[in-house]
Order: sequence, then structure tokens, then C-alpha cells
Amino acid sequence: MMKKKNWLSHFNILKILVINCALVMHSVNSAYFSQLFQPNWAPDHIATQGDQTALSLDFSTGCGFESKKKYLFGKASAQIKLIQGDSAGTVTAYYMSSEGSNHDELDFEFLGNASGEPYIVQTNLYINGTGNREQRHYLWFDPTMDFHTYSFFWNRRSILFLVDDIPIREFENKEKKGVPYPKEQVMGIHGSLWNADDWATQGGQVKTNWSNAPFVVKFQSFEIDACELLPDEKDDPVVKCGKSGQFWWDKPVVKQVNKQRRTQLKWVRDNFLVYDYCQDIERFSEVPMECKK
Ligand SMILES: *[C@@H]1O[C@H](CO)[C@@H](O)[C@H](O)[C@H]1NC(C)=O
Repeated sequence: MMKKKNWLSHFNILKILVINCALVMHSVNSAYFSQLFQPNWAPDHIATQGDQTALSLDFSTGCGFESKKKYLFGKASAQIKLIQGDSAGTVTAYYMSSEGSNHDELDFEFLGNASGEPYIVQTNLYINGTGNREQRHYLWFDPTMDFHTYSFFWNRRSILFLVDDIPIREFENKEKKGVPYPKEQVMGIHGSLWNADDWATQGGQVKTNWSNAPFVVKFQSFEIDACELLPDEKDDPVVKCGKSGQFWWDKPVVKQVNKQRRTQLKWVRDNFLVYDYCQDIERFSEVPMECKK
């Protein structure tokens, strides 16, 4: 009895050591904005001060940035403080995307609202150029009051969208059932802010009130812990990032969504889900393949 217990606890210690070593070997890339990113739209509307980067939108333009490197699998986080007060008509995006017409993309889109009304977080995935996989959630806090952490976790088995490390959505690899899964294209990490008052707020009914411009959203504390490729790197990303078991996100202990995460996913779904494309029978004549149990 005693022996068994000891062996078990040793095993747990070993597990922890393995995870920690994997983390140490692959150091987290937490750095100032300019080391990781560059503006790719309206640089004069992006202002960096210390760890904080402010994006602003006015009647003339929105703005955006992208990472200098591309990534395949891993975790990418940013802390974001959304527009305070009236943000109706605006969309803030934090997303990962590859290039080309058959691109893969993982999106967080924050849909603004009239003063005092709740933001909506829309998540979406494009695989081989096809999107139409929207989910919408409310948050369990006011995202305009403080910075909160929004992350993508991505391995061969599933993709998680996390808010303060609580998963709000999982997209599982169902290739065995013929559903495509993003696992070959390297993606850049992007942020942007723009006017989308034709659809964003209450279905496009509430327009951007330009007398409240500029609208400002702040990003800080980026953390990228992923398999990275330099812009001109000749290595095949699938080979470089694909060796199973090499990275912490492929280790058996993190590979699968654990029980705690399952409980969290259910809590979010039960309390904060606004819309799920999987349940939109008016939009899709046939339930999308990945929605089938
Ligand atoms: C904005 O507020 C209204 C009223 O509370 C709500 O119905 C809507 O879902 C909110 N979000 C957006 C993006 O429209």
C-alpha cells in the first residue's frame, strides 16, 4: 500500500519535472512590441510606450500590426484592454493567419457596443480558405476595465481559444472523420482595430458615433511560446515543428484537454454562449461535418 503510494508520488514529481524541463528548453518569448511585431496598416495610429501598445481608430482609418515571424503550433497570448465607453461599430481583432487564398486563420474578434452594453467575443476558424465557423460569447467580466489575457493554444490534436487561461472554445482534430485541420501552414500573429458598423453591433443597427473618436484599444505583455520560423527560413515547417513529442504542447500531459478544462468549457458554454454556427440550422442546410458528435 505504502509502496504504491510512494511510487505514485514519485511518478507525479517526474511528470512535473518533465513538463518543467520542456518549458525551460523552450523559453517563452515575452518581449517588447517592436521586437516581435511591426505595423502593417496605418503606423501613425499605433503608439507604443513601454510594454503597452495603443491602437486607435478615427474617421480616417483603423490600424493593425503583424508578427515578424511565423508560427506552427504552440501558444500565443496577448493582454488586451478594450475600448471604454461607447465602442459601437468597432471591431478589435487578435488573430493568427497564414497567407494565400487557401489560408488558415484563428480569430478573436471583439465586437464593440453602445456605452454600458456588453462586448461580444466572436471566435472563428478558417481552414484552407474556408471560414464560417463563428461562435459568439459574452464575457464574465467587463473587458474594458482591465487588461485580460487572450490566448490561442494549438497542437496537432486540438485548438483552444482561452480567456484568462479558461478555454471558451475547443476545435478538435477530426481528420479521421474527413474534417480538415490546420497543421501545415505557418501563421503570423496579428492585431487590428477597424470600423465594421455595417454588421458588428446589434447586427449593424448601432453605428459608430464618430464624435467619440478616437477609439483606443491597448495591447500588452505578449507571450509567444511556439515553434517559430523566420521570414526567409528554408526549413520545411512541417518537418521542423512536426516532430512529435519534441515540444511541450505535444507532451501526453498537455496534449489532451483535461477534466478541469472540460468543466470550464462547459461552464462557459452554459453561461456565456450567444451563438454557435453548429446550431444555426437556418444558415446551413446540412450540419457542418465537424459539428457532428
Ligand atoms: C450589445 O448590447 C445588446 C443589448 O444589451 C446585446 O443584445 C448585444 O448582444 C450586445 N453586443 C453586440 C456586439 O451587439
